[in-house]
Amino acid sequence: MSNVTVIGAQWGDEGKGKIIDWLSNRAEIVVRFQGGNNAGHTIVVGDKTYKLSLLPSGVVQGKRSIIGNGVVVDPWSLLEEIAKVGAAGLSVTPELLVLAENACLVLPLHRELDAMREDAAAQKIGTTKRGIGPTYEDKVGRRALRAIDLKDPISLPGKIEKLLAHHNVLRRGFGHPEVDAVGLLKSLTELAPKIVPFIGSSWRELHAAKLAGKRVLFEGAQAVLLDIDHGTYPFVTSSNTVAGQAAAGSGVSPRDIGTVLGIVKSYTTRVGEGPFPTELKDAIGEKLGQRGHEFGTVTGRKRRCGWFDAVLVRQTCITGGVDGICLTKLDVLDGFDELKVCTHYMLDGERLDYLPADANAQGQATPVYETLQGWSETTAGARSWAELPANAIKYVRRVEELIGSQVLLLSTSPDRDDTIMVRDPFVVL
Ligand code: GDP
Ligand code: IMO
Ligand code: MG
Repeated sequence: MSNVTVIGAQWGDEGKGKIIDWLSNRAEIVVRFQGGNNAGHTIVVGDKTYKLSLLPSGVVQGKRSIIGNGVVVDPWSLLEEIAKVGAAGLSVTPELLVLAENACLVLPLHRELDAMREDAAAQKIGTTKRGIGPTYEDKVGRRALRAIDLKDPISLPGKIEKLLAHHNVLRRGFGHPEVDAVGLLKSLTELAPKIVPFIGSSWRELHAAKLAGKRVLFEGAQAVLLDIDHGTYPFVTSSNTVAGQAAAGSGVSPRDIGTVLGIVKSYTTRVGEGPFPTELKDAIGEKLGQRGHEFGTVTGRKRRCGWFDAVLVRQTCITGGVDGICLTKLDVLDGFDELKVCTHYMLDGERLDYLPADANAQGQATPVYETLQGWSETTAGARSWAELPANAIKYVRRVEELIGSQVLLLSTSPDRDDTIMVRDPFVVL
């Protein structure tokens, strides 16, 4: 039996939250390792729906949860989320949740800078305006505040000064009022007693878990096409979203991240700006969006929709380190007469079986499709392979062939239990 690392293999919102919740039944610890509250992971259990942004999805099953060092954490937002799930009946106490002491903090000034830049930019990224990019910049620039700084009132004022020396120059440039160091210190000092009880060590906890033979589930946010290195740069998020980050972002060996499960939607969606070769700006795209309820969990924005792009997923399975996939939202394709799948692109008269790195070329690559027969039967709520219509099985098998990766799980509705296990991801491949 091994650990499992779950990552998104397209542009996000593939259904990672649902699958992590389902898998967490058989894990003892769930760990987030990158991103922040730009993520929105939806978990549906019967008539209850939970939308999680910072909390690992394991909290729904009451599993020990770690927010790893690779995550950027808006501590006010974390407290709000704890209160929100508390009202829905989930108690998230320091006995359940650990916040890595070396995780960097998202402050209001990061959210404001994110918004100032987006509002001023001629070519927008379409960020979630949660301050994620600016916080990672400060992390790499070695001036970010970290969770552990909330425990050290002596050093905190100096760290705030250093941070503001950088930010106030930027704010002046945008014509925005400077941040007052005294005010920021006061709000962090008021916040500290509420956050400090959660602060701990991700790597030490995970090392102890390994020695005790506990099974760990690593929960990715965003997805490989939004990865800062491997995504559609510059229309990406500011962290590495590939499986390797599970190790760096939590403090374990790369050998201990286990089976890498890529979550793949049966079609393609994207929120925000950037190239999207198979995007459908027509009635079919609208139909996919309506049937799939494709509205952003975090910002409520309408998601762009298109046919399944096997070129992209083949590539993300390679760059992301995927061992096998979970194909989600198969039910959204119910009732289409025919379905298209992109098998390659044409660019300047040449056939391409990968997405080029250049943003202009990405925008110009023309998808070439293979047409498959749809099915009129419903797959919604199917819980076994035997319940699937023949053409749905053909679709799944063709996807596997084209992307060069095997389907381990299938998902047929938002509900936890509407999941089909083809092969157990906890069993080493
Ligand atoms: P995540 O960010 O990858 O966790 O995905 P989101 O939660 O942002 O978006 C996925 C949406 O699809 C959520 O509303 C889920 O409840 C829903 N969902 C997940 N799996 C399925 C599925 O198999 N079928 C349908 N119809 N909806 C699904
Ligand atoms: P989950 O975990 C989909 C997108 C934003 C924007 C780009 C950069 O729910 O799959 P950022 O705020 O991160 O600087 O925005 O990344 N984005 C997501 N799209 N799902 C997400 O997370 C996303 N998190 C960020 O829309 O295009
Ligand atoms: Mg989401």
